[in-house]
Amino acid sequence: GRRVVVTGGASGIGAALLDLLQDLGAADITVIDRNPPDAKVDHFIEADLSSQAGVDAAVAAIEGPVHVLFNNAGVAGTQPAPVVFSVNYLAVRRLTQELTAQMPAGAAVVITSSMAGIGWQAHKDELLKLLAIDDWDEALAWLDAHPDLAADPYALSKECTQLYTHYAARGASWARTRINSACPGPVSTPLLSDFRVTMTDELIDWSVRQGNGRAATPAEVARILAFLGSDAAGYLNGVNIPVDAGLQAALITGQT
Ligand code: NAI
Repeated sequence: GRRVVVTGGASGIGAALLDLLQDLGAADITVIDRNPPDAKVDHFIEADLSSQAGVDAAVAAIEGPVHVLFNNAGVAGTQPAPVVFSVNYLAVRRLTQELTAQMPAGAAVVITSSMAGIGWQAHKDELLKLLAIDDWDEALAWLDAHPDLAADPYALSKECTQLYTHYAARGASWARTRINSACPGPVSTPLLSDFRVTMTDELIDWSVRQGNGRAATPAEVARILAFLGSDAAGYLNGVNIPVDAGLQAALITGQT
């Protein structure tokens, strides 16, 4: 059986993923969250993923092999920029790097990114410099030095995960481990009301209209995450998959 780690399993998409993994018969499920999950899991690690110390404490509590790591926890841009950037990107990257040594051949890393990260190509050169920074505090200092990009920390954090997915997939240490992300449009979770604050009602309503007139259910996103973590996706590596009922297509084609 597979040993699975899920961050952000206490709510929304992560909670839906837990139900699904249990249905799929994962042998051992570990949840990392600041809150306890409703679902019964094998291990719950209470940790704050907004700091390096919190991430490292969580890593230290994970013993044995990890077959699938779901980096799903995230916060909206209503939180302070360093928190958004830390939880949504720096923690994703550090958890992934630190757990690599425990991942056997055929292991998979799955990230919950976002359609909000679609614009990374517009500032790819800047972001590559940011991705090259290994030190957590130095990466936060980069935010201070780039107020233009830090002004939308949610988009920045999700752009970073998308670029990270591409680059991590190429690394030598990844020869035996896949990494992919799912990029949802609007999803019916508690976060959606926060997005209305930072992204405006107009943008969210427009995005919902592109997605067949409704937001995704958490389960609709969780099913794609579970697929990306499964052997059925064994030939997928280094891709960011839209889960948006056509929102990306609308953004690309300019249809209204
Ligand atoms: P949610 O708020 O329902 O769940 C997020 C989970 O992450 C919660 O259990 C929360 O406790 C945990 N978490 C947040 N900050 C944490 C921290 N510092 N330490 C430990 N745990 C922490 O949100 P939702 O919607 O399920 O979000 C899951 C992922 O989906 C996030 O990465 C989010 O950015 C992404 N996403 C959500 C969309 C939406 O419309 N809801 C759209 C696109 C992406």
